[in-house]
Amino acid sequence: MLSSSCRRRRRIRHDALEVVRLALHSTCGVGKASVRAARFQVSVIAIPQNRLKTEKVGLSSVLAPERVWGRLKNLHKGHCMVAMARKAAFFAFAFLMACVFLRSHGAAPGAAVQSAFRNASTPLSSPHDDRRPLRAGKHGHRRGRWWRAMARDPSLSPRFPRAIIIGVRKGGTRALLEMLSMHPSVITAEKELHFFNTDEKFSKGPEWYRLQMPPSHDDQVTLEKTPAYFTEPEVPGRIASMYAGLNITDLRLLLILRDPIDRLLSDYTQLMHNRGERGKARPSLDEVLLTRDGKHINTDYKAIQRSLYAGHMENWLRHFSRDHLLIVDGDRLIREPLPELKRVEQFLGLPSFLGSDHLYFNATRGFYCLRDVRRNRCLNDSKGRPHPNVNATLLAQLQEFFRKPNHKLYTLVGQTFDWA
Ligand code: A3P
Repeated sequence: MLSSSCRRRRRIRHDALEVVRLALHSTCGVGKASVRAARFQVSVIAIPQNRLKTEKVGLSSVLAPERVWGRLKNLHKGHCMVAMARKAAFFAFAFLMACVFLRSHGAAPGAAVQSAFRNASTPLSSPHDDRRPLRAGKHGHRRGRWWRAMARDPSLSPRFPRAIIIGVRKGGTRALLEMLSMHPSVITAEKELHFFNTDEKFSKGPEWYRLQMPPSHDDQVTLEKTPAYFTEPEVPGRIASMYAGLNITDLRLLLILRDPIDRLLSDYTQLMHNRGERGKARPSLDEVLLTRDGKHINTDYKAIQRSLYAGHMENWLRHFSRDHLLIVDGDRLIREPLPELKRVEQFLGLPSFLGSDHLYFNATRGFYCLRDVRRNRCLNDSKGRPHPNVNATLLAQLQEFFRKPNHKLYTLVGQTFDWA
């Protein structure tokens, strides 16, 4: 049996909680998170009066304000503000997430915002301050950064690439892209988009493609690279018709080619590395490059087909004139990158910028590395893996096999290479 004073104390505690609950609804009204804020309101109601009246707060009893105060002693002024700030932050976050979602799906609001950005007349800032390249994250995670940059500078907007590195796989495409990314007038999409060679992506349409690009200024060149484009038959036609539809006539194509035998060995090394990672068997070079009888080159092997440049080039020249395409010498880019980069600058109509300050030879890696604005960096370990040894007989067979297609390419493009 409870004593009467114990019952009274319980009653007071119950009523104090009721005050909190009522105040919660009548003041901040933002749910549980506001309980502490509501307590602050209770104190305001309670303190100026001698007694907290039933009609004021709808309680069935009369409370001494000191008792309410005693129960609710953790009060302080900022509580209600904190609750409101939390509410505002929640709505801001929800709005931001909705925008990101709409934008990544190419929905109208995102497009409208971007066209507003494009039409804005804010003058460009000076070339070397806030115009450092904004890159797409490897997994597309830098969109928050893009949005913040676009909000700060309305002249920034995702734009269609004005240059595409179309290949060739293992030709040195990453090195070329990274080196060009140091140029302040070049904005690179870091991720390989595979837009023109994947039906599913291509069906999403041009606007989707544009929105995958990092924001750039009007006078900058957005550069995409997907090395698979060069060897996929449907790609040149798709690029040509899409850009014609968009009325963009100044698209430039960059193709980096290496000695087809070196490229083949590089491709084989990469393929075997991937098989090893997946726990699959790794056939020897002879097994994949030669037919079963061991006498001929296995032309069914994809890596061989990719090195037959002339056939792929014919397909590209059906859709693009030669002056829209620059062939970078991939072997030279390894040995002596600067002259090749200068050729690219000229071809893309960029102001001359890249120089010997931007590159240094790293003897440990055996390659040129980048002296970027922020840090020195080499390409990652997937570039420059040791190639397998090729026995003399197989090498001679490969040289003989590639001789004709190589000469056909030289004639097609009006350029020769120092290939075996
Ligand atoms: P290997 O790994 O066979 O040596 P891609 O980027 O198109 O996949 O091409 C990879 C090739 O780029 C590498 O082939 C490497 O030889 C070449 N390459 C050219 N310049 C390079 C550089 N500065 N650093 C690393 N690799 C470079």
